[in-house]
Amino acid sequence: MCGIIGYIGPRNASEIVVEGLKKLEYRGYDSFGFAVRANPDIKILKRVGKIGSVTVQELGLPNSNLAIGHTRWATHGSVTEINTHPHISQDEKIIVVHNGIIENFQAQKKFLESQGLAFYSQTDTEIIPKTIEYHMKRGYDFVEACKHSLKHLEGQYAIVALHKDENKLVAIRKEAPLVIGVGEGEFFVASDVPAFLEYTKKVIFLDEMDLAVIDKNISVFNLTKNSFVDRTITNIDWNAEQARKGEFDHFFMKEVYEQANTLERVANIDETLIKEVAGEIRKSEGIFFVACGTASYACMHGVYTFAKIAKMHINFCLAHEFPNFKHFLNNKSLVIALSQSGETADTLTAIRAAKAAGAKTISITNAMGSSLMRESDKTILARAGPEICVLSTKAYTSQLAILTLLAYELAGKLDEGKEKLKEVVRYIYYLTSEHTRKFIQEIAKNLRYAQHIYLIGRGLQYPTALEATLKIKEVSYIHAEGFAGGELKHGVIALIEHGTPCIVFTSTENEKEIISNAMELKARGGYIIGVGPNNNPVFDVWIKVRESEEANSICQIIPMQILAYQLAMLRGCDPDKPRNLAKSVTVK
Ligand code: M6R
Repeated sequence: MCGIIGYIGPRNASEIVVEGLKKLEYRGYDSFGFAVRANPDIKILKRVGKIGSVTVQELGLPNSNLAIGHTRWATHGSVTEINTHPHISQDEKIIVVHNGIIENFQAQKKFLESQGLAFYSQTDTEIIPKTIEYHMKRGYDFVEACKHSLKHLEGQYAIVALHKDENKLVAIRKEAPLVIGVGEGEFFVASDVPAFLEYTKKVIFLDEMDLAVIDKNISVFNLTKNSFVDRTITNIDWNAEQARKGEFDHFFMKEVYEQANTLERVANIDETLIKEVAGEIRKSEGIFFVACGTASYACMHGVYTFAKIAKMHINFCLAHEFPNFKHFLNNKSLVIALSQSGETADTLTAIRAAKAAGAKTISITNAMGSSLMRESDKTILARAGPEICVLSTKAYTSQLAILTLLAYELAGKLDEGKEKLKEVVRYIYYLTSEHTRKFIQEIAKNLRYAQHIYLIGRGLQYPTALEATLKIKEVSYIHAEGFAGGELKHGVIALIEHGTPCIVFTSTENEKEIISNAMELKARGGYIIGVGPNNNPVFDVWIKVRESEEANSICQIIPMQILAYQLAMLRGCDPDKPRNLAKSVTVK
């Protein structure tokens, strides 16, 4: 939620922050702004709306060696130019961009007002430059004032601050992502790596309560330890190409298309890690999967797959509901958290609760160096590469694939699992081909004016129905709901009217039962779209997805991702940046 970027070095900082911010827009796109230090002045520019393809020249930003930028997902204060970041101190010398929430901002604002400082916005962020200003007035220099200010700021935040008279950036991290890119005589600081991937793959992941002072060098002070600390440089194995749209119109379709490659990477994953994690699972008593949104449907897939292949029962809990069950945890429990971003606040809270209870923690995340990775005992990286579209697609199928491999390893059949995945990879080339895309587009044309779409599946196809539902809802804004096939007659069937589109996921394993459900829908006038290995007279349309047994979840979701995309296109929605959403939900 919100993306921040800063640059200091020999290149044109304005150019870098404008282009970098475009890569972070998935984190929020209500408004954007920049502060450019063009000695002796600071140029501040704010705009409401998406940054789009605007250039540094069109924005009229000066050449400079130091600049910061921000793209906003509004939390405190409506979407106006005044509330847009950067925010400045009263003396107009301290400029700040911020991602996160300052929880005590009302009390702090009152205090600062009592000290004669006036406020112009409704944001929580504005108290940051003004708190720094307050400490500078008490005699501290800029960096010391930043350190002192943190003692008064509660909540989760990543901050980049600059002072008009100083050629440096101060970067602060507390429970919100912030990563430093290390170039030749230059530094980048951003919420996420794609913002500067064009220039460097060397990164420093800041730790909790790190305050980095960046000028010609970098020094990191940790406020909890109250001392300077060494932070290692890590090499990222992503490349700049992965963070570009290339020949695609949208990241959404690019990322759907990439799934053959991303899954191949999972199929060739380091076996030692899978075996180690499976070992932890074997020796634990009381295991929970936790996650939110799409990752939670991957967890549900895990529950079914572990039951089926590994004959193991795993509990599943939405991360934000986990506090209700944490009293079941002890030092033999294991909590496995799934998250694309590794920064979802609810998921991190669940992991922290697990650790507090003495439980072991494992994460499956796509983001190297993320909070989740750093805070859990072991991590399996999803290897999906940067996922820029706000909707999760390729990270989801990678999570499914990793869980499938773990289940096979637990059953003592890892090689079989890997073979299965490799077979699926070959099939995914077909599922993402132009032929499939065109076929699905025709189906989308029939559904584009639908008010409701219902999706059903049984067994492993049930989480698929739920994930497909989420994809359709969040990008096309059509109301969709997913159900377990058996649930229909317990109430849901009342919703079916003549022409209601119903998507039915089938597999050879439960074909008879799910086809009966499809018949029940058809008998009430439903327009039936079958997704699965065999055609059936009950289907009005059939999307053939060959039988892949335990890997059905991976294969069947792909045409649904394409359907959601096509619906968005036909309905004039932005597939990469749906309204009201942000990629990384860093607030509770
Ligand atoms: O980064 P995470 O996987 O933890 O994110 C969880 C959800 O916020 C995310 O999956 C969300 O539901 C997406 N909009 C799905 O497309």
